[in-house]
Amino acid sequence: MNVRPMERRDLETWVAMQLELWPDADRAEQLESLEDYFEGGSDFITAAFIAEDNETPLGFLELNLRAYAEGAESSPVPHIEGWFVSEDARRTGVGGALMQAAEQWALANGYHELTSDTTDDYPISPAAHTKLGFVEGDRLITFRKTLNT
Ligand SMILES: CC(C)(COP(=O)(O)OP(=O)(O)OC[C@H]1O[C@@H](n2cnc3c(N)ncnc32)[C@H](O)[C@@H]1OP(=O)(O)O)[C@@H](O)C(=O)NCCC(=O)NCCS
Repeated sequence: MNVRPMERRDLETWVAMQLELWPDADRAEQLESLEDYFEGGSDFITAAFIAEDNETPLGFLELNLRAYAEGAESSPVPHIEGWFVSEDARRTGVGGALMQAAEQWALANGYHELTSDTTDDYPISPAAHTKLGFVEGDRLITFRKTLNT
């Protein structure tokens, strides 16, 4: 298994994995965002990695430099925006290897902290983060109200 930075040739693979992770996402919008990334102008992705085994894609991780992230002690801070491993490949260290690539990228670029978050939609995520050395911060509940005009 190999982890390397995403390349333009990975575009279709990357978007397919994104849609597995975020089934409600719009494919055209995701593709546009990835094109922006490869053009060097993405507001949402600073670095991204793919895990593969003999060219079979196994998973991806993308991070973004955020000016502010809940619980962070530094700013800007690299924040894990997407982390996914294909079901068949889980629990074999692929997720950990992707996270290690993110940590190496962060350290190489002068950052000493990584942040991440999750929701109840991803029940495995808390245990996986904890196993890989993340410490849980505050839990956040969001609210919204539609205002009648
Ligand atoms: C979270 C995810 C990326 C982890 O990938 P992975 O390749 O299985 O991760 P690893 O094999 O490196 O596992 C790392 C550790 O996480 C924990 N872990 C992973 N899956 C787990 C599970 N199903 N139950 C409990 N702990 C689990 C274990 O402690 C594991 O270490 P161990 O196998 O030595 O005990 C993967 O499960 C996934 O894609 N899940 C769906 C999407 C998701 O939740 N993404 C994160 C959103 S924030």
